[in-house]
Amino acid sequence: DAAVKGGFETFMNKEIHDQPQAVADTLLGRVGEKGELILDEMRISETVMRSVDKIVVIACGTAAYAGHVAKYAIEHWCRIPVEVELAHEFRYRDPVVSEKTLVVAISQSGETMDTIMAVRHAREQGAKVLAIVNTHGSTIARESDAVLYTHAGPEVAVASTKAFLAQITACYLLGLYLAQLRGNKFPDEIAEDLEELRLMPERIQQVVDTEGHVQAVARELAEERTVLFLGRHVGFPVALEGALKLKELAYIHAEGFAAGELKHGPIALVEPGQPVFVIAPSPRGRDALHAKVISNIQEIRARGARTLVIAEEGDDAVEPFADVVFRVPQTPTLLAPLVTVVPLQIFAAALATAKGLDVDQPRNLAKSVTVE
Ligand code: G6P
Repeated sequence: DAAVKGGFETFMNKEIHDQPQAVADTLLGRVGEKGELILDEMRISETVMRSVDKIVVIACGTAAYAGHVAKYAIEHWCRIPVEVELAHEFRYRDPVVSEKTLVVAISQSGETMDTIMAVRHAREQGAKVLAIVNTHGSTIARESDAVLYTHAGPEVAVASTKAFLAQITACYLLGLYLAQLRGNKFPDEIAEDLEELRLMPERIQQVVDTEGHVQAVARELAEERTVLFLGRHVGFPVALEGALKLKELAYIHAEGFAAGELKHGPIALVEPGQPVFVIAPSPRGRDALHAKVISNIQEIRARGARTLVIAEEGDDAVEPFADVVFRVPQTPTLLAPLVTVVPLQIFAAALATAKGLDVDQPRNLAKSVTVE
């Protein structure tokens, strides 16, 4: 058993450690010498890809959060509107799709029934479906017009980790490919982000290397009953994923919010001692989001929250208002989820372990939900 887990206590822990390799493998062979993207499994013609006027991402669970990240990146790089929808909602709401819609189905297993049914529905409406799937030869891969495999390797733990990072990576590849193909507004930025993407595996490794610190904090919080997560921009889906992980693994009530919504409700939940994770955007970002999130941290701290802040190295502005800081390496804003989610995964697994729970097989959950 220990051998299959590569010497780790749990598959989840092993899979967290596999993440730098999973991302490297998803990138492997897809970026050419001159920085051009090569997507060999793309069986949708370039003509069709150029004519796409809307993208709809369909997925369930963690895979849907990868879709949320994709929306920020693809809309910015490609100027194509992107919608993200839970597969089970998409199918039953008479969605507007046409021959010019590209539906992107994201699934680790490729066997999630709701996602399969949504793929079928989209194709019946004439949309092209591109699958971002981890499992070769799975139903979604077979039934789609094109497949972009995430080469994350088999994922055993029920709660998805390395498949999630690989899905996000595949979405970036898709976005950068479309941007190149369609002639984008920011060629320098695209080239730069592509170059930065190649550096992500080692940055993810740096975060994995901080696990001892994260685990120690998790053990201190093992008795908590509610944990909140705040993020904005791409940090918002990261907050949602952090909350999902904690629910799934530690059976703790956890909720993720867009930081800008704080004043519209969630701040009422903050009472003295309430742990709140905040994913701080890069202070080097072009917009003023960093300052806004700092002010959110101040607001909740003033009401007694225990603030656990995920911040870039060198971001000193968070220090005065953070009870705990988890550092991540500097990255371009759109790529940050690949590093900022890692402490949240480690935290959830460590907290579940501290509670004596089965990290790999949480109660009531299945790795792949093959029924509706
Ligand atoms: C289940 C798993 C999740 C996963 C979701 C979607 O709920 O427990 O970890 O994110 O299904 O699965 P898929 O295989 O389609 O990515």
